[in-house]
Amino acid sequence: MDCIETIMTRRSIRKFKTEPVDEKDLMTILDAGRWAPSAGNLQPCHFVVVKDPAQRQQLKAAAFGQEALDTAPFVIVVCADPNRCEQYGEKGMTHFLLMDGANATENILLAARALGYGSCWMGGFSEKKVRQVLGLPDHFRVISVVPIGKADEDPEPRERRPLSEIVHWEQW
Ligand SMILES: Cc1cc2nc3c(=O)[nH]c(=O)nc-3n(C[C@H](O)[C@H](O)[C@H](O)COP(=O)(O)O)c2cc1C
Repeated sequence: MDCIETIMTRRSIRKFKTEPVDEKDLMTILDAGRWAPSAGNLQPCHFVVVKDPAQRQQLKAAAFGQEALDTAPFVIVVCADPNRCEQYGEKGMTHFLLMDGANATENILLAARALGYGSCWMGGFSEKKVRQVLGLPDHFRVISVVPIGKADEDPEPRERRPLSEIVHWEQW
């Protein structure tokens, strides 16, 4: 699958088959996250892989009971260390940090899609509770919680605003 097809056919998947994900594929998906661009190449992101069912239950509770965290064979939690971005001051530790985490998350979603897996970016969670469940340092930001596995649904594409409404040439 080429890059454009991967982007255009990715869908948020929230229902998963129980079959496990190949370890090699898992490492490729993580490596795609690692290769995301980051401001100044400061690379503040860490990826916590959660497979253990009891641990996934706790993540689910921290994410307002979102079922996908129960059913997906594994979950990648993308988090970021603001201290690595200190050289860019306040903007680096807030704005750039979140963008770096978003870049890594999108790479993970697309790599999963390209390798034949479904995934979903989940932002609905208590950051404090996710930190507790994973034992993250208090200053870390939790960017996204991403369940990944073989899709057990084939959702219709969600509507997008037309280009004519959102593209502006030369001036807004
Ligand atoms: C920042 C962010 C947070 C999101 N949080 C959730 C979430 O907590 N739960 C969920 O089911 N989907 C979540 N989504 C997925 C969106 O609902 C989904 O991307 C959007 O509806 C478009 O659908 P598509 O991804 O299939 O194109 C989130 C997406 C983003 C980018």
